[in-house]
Amino acid sequence: MSAIPTERYARCIRASKRVYWDIDEDVIRGRRFDLADKFLPDGLTLAERFTTLSPREKRFVSQIQGRTYANIFGLVERFINAKVLELCGDYVLGDQVALEAMVRFSDEELKHQALFRRIEAMMGEVLPDGYHFDFVPESVARAVLGKSTWAVLLLTLDIELFTQLHYRQSIDPDTQLSTLFKDVFLYH
Ligand SMILES: [Fe+2]
Repeated sequence: MSAIPTERYARCIRASKRVYWDIDEDVIRGRRFDLADKFLPDGLTLAERFTTLSPREKRFVSQIQGRTYANIFGLVERFINAKVLELCGDYVLGDQVALEAMVRFSDEELKHQALFRRIEAMMGEVLPDGYHFDFVPESVARAVLGKSTWAVLLLTLDIELFTQLHYRQSIDPDTQLSTLFKDVFLYH
């Protein structure tokens, strides 16, 4: 059982209540994706290196890569949430503040997966047919969850940190991005 003080979990609960957001009211707000916009920023697509592509083709690449980027987040959240729920077991009959903090974390991750399913469908409505995302989240989760808890938690921390870096260094500064795509990653 962990020796983390209850107050640290209480702080997590307060922070998660403060930044709570709703998929429709805060993120989507009745908008749709527009193929005139880029989805994934140049800093992540490295579009400038596609020297033989026209600007229109580079934008199309950014839309395909943006769709896959979103799907990969939906995929990793499957194992993140499974691990958090597993760790809840340590607290169900113990520190109830810690339990609440973890249940809230899990609830958020379920919401993120719902958000990514929504935008996958919305991108599918505007992009041409024929796109595949061939990874099965459950199979990836099973492989990851076969490793030690600390390895899974470190991988999760790394994902959380690079997500913020991607947003701050590449997504936020790119002025040609879909504002809807930007907001998905601002809130997420
Ligand atoms: Fe998430």
